[in-house]
Amino acid sequence: MEPSALRRRLAAAGQIHLLRFWAELSGAEQRVLAGELQGLDCEALSGCFRRAMEGAGARAQVDGRMEALPRDVLGSVTRDAERLPEWEREGLCQIAQNKVAVLLLAGGQGTRLGVSYPKGMYDVGLPSHKTLFQIQAERILKLQQLAENQHGTKCIIPWYIMTSGRTMELTEEFFLKHDYFGLKPENVIFFQQGMLPAMGFDGKILLEEKGKVSMAPDGNGGLYRALGAHGIVVDMERRGIGSIHMYCVDNILVKVADPRFIGFCIQRGAECGAKVVEKTNPLEPVGVVCRVDGMYQVVEYSEISLATAQKRSPDGRLLFNAGNIANHYLTLPFLRDIVNTYEPQLKHHVAQKKIPYMDIASGQLIKPNKPNGIKMEKFVFDIFQFAKKFVVYEVLREDEFSPLKNADSQNGKDNPTTARHALMSLHHCWVLNAGGHFVDENGTRLPAIPRDSFTNGMPDAITADANYNLKDANDLPIQCEISPLISYSGEGLEKYVENKEFHAPLIIDENGTHERVKNNV
Ligand code: UTP
Repeated sequence: MEPSALRRRLAAAGQIHLLRFWAELSGAEQRVLAGELQGLDCEALSGCFRRAMEGAGARAQVDGRMEALPRDVLGSVTRDAERLPEWEREGLCQIAQNKVAVLLLAGGQGTRLGVSYPKGMYDVGLPSHKTLFQIQAERILKLQQLAENQHGTKCIIPWYIMTSGRTMELTEEFFLKHDYFGLKPENVIFFQQGMLPAMGFDGKILLEEKGKVSMAPDGNGGLYRALGAHGIVVDMERRGIGSIHMYCVDNILVKVADPRFIGFCIQRGAECGAKVVEKTNPLEPVGVVCRVDGMYQVVEYSEISLATAQKRSPDGRLLFNAGNIANHYLTLPFLRDIVNTYEPQLKHHVAQKKIPYMDIASGQLIKPNKPNGIKMEKFVFDIFQFAKKFVVYEVLREDEFSPLKNADSQNGKDNPTTARHALMSLHHCWVLNAGGHFVDENGTRLPAIPRDSFTNGMPDAITADANYNLKDANDLPIQCEISPLISYSGEGLEKYVENKEFHAPLIIDENGTHERVKNNV
């Protein structure tokens, strides 16, 4: 398009300021900017902006229309403990038949963590220094092996990894450099989500540089559009996939392709399922899964009044206690329907952000210290409303959820230290469950945590004694790390630890059991 035509189009859409620095740009820079601007559908964008802003207002009124989850959609690793072996068998059976795929959301910018590379490449400082990507890859390898052992057939869990313009190149290079952590490259499929321009509160698109529009990934719900655009659903069909486990890259405890969760959803005949952790503190800033006007959805903590957040059921638990951890189950037919039919109905949410921008008046780059604009994002969980059968599966936070959101320097929550401690604390429990003991420097046994019941090969991870719960980053756990290649969720550790005493730090990996030189906790 000629600059004059482009100029007319931008002027009509109220975005002419994007050409403010045109004359200062080199020919090459002008071509790049013109290319970017021609790719923008300004009319559609202003429609999205208007609807997103209206939607933000409407969502604030959700509070009074919320209903708790009916008992019949719920499953729980504690209240339904006797069903776990059956669900696990079902899940492993599906995996053994090559019917399960995992879908990783790894397109986020990780701004709060503050690193310039994808979050999956982050090393939280475990004794092994494994990154989040490596831990997840090894869990997939181990699960394939467990399913093979149970069913005697080789199997594959394909891993679909959604990246964005901000993370694609580095993610692919990282996997290549590490030989895909032992997985076959053809079973690790990368695809890229879309990007949208960041806007001021007035709907004006922001410039990041004089010749560059400020673009951001279109939210983890950009997944559904990207799945269609990159032929991923077709690839899943070709492989004969029936069930998909979807999760976020930043949860260090994630049970990738969790057979129990998959088995539970299949046995309930669900099209879609959400794994949740119990919200116990009304003030906790976590979205909750509930019904609004009879439809399942996640209501963000910012949309609930304190009075609603504090409501309790007769059993004393919070009424709205199903804390969303963005960890979902979908059948392939349901995913296909979302991609082909429902995706356009998903609304953009507004995230107010501090967005560095080129000031149009002064030509200076401004780094604001309070939110100055919005990014428009779709959310993965906005699809619950379309499921004919939806279920919710409650798990223990200390076993399954410790997200990496913030830098250690920022605050004491969801940072590298809490993630590292959560994993080591869980692995400590696994060792105790399998009959191992830790001793101090004098050889005195450290207090044991009571053993829990064991079920069909995979012990239930126990709930740690109150003394062992990590209340904050200053409670140091016993340093203990077990490679996912040795154990997926605590199973099979007896031969390494039963009736043995260890000095921390303890590492159990493919090379055996090591009590290593002290590492940083
Ligand atoms: P968050 O919403 O926590 O965002 O993502 P983030 O990018 O990791 O961190 P901040 O907010 O910039 O600090 C939750 C999950 O959704 C993915 C992330 O990679 C993470 O796994 N995500 C987020 C995407 O895949 N795409 C997006 O556009 C946004």
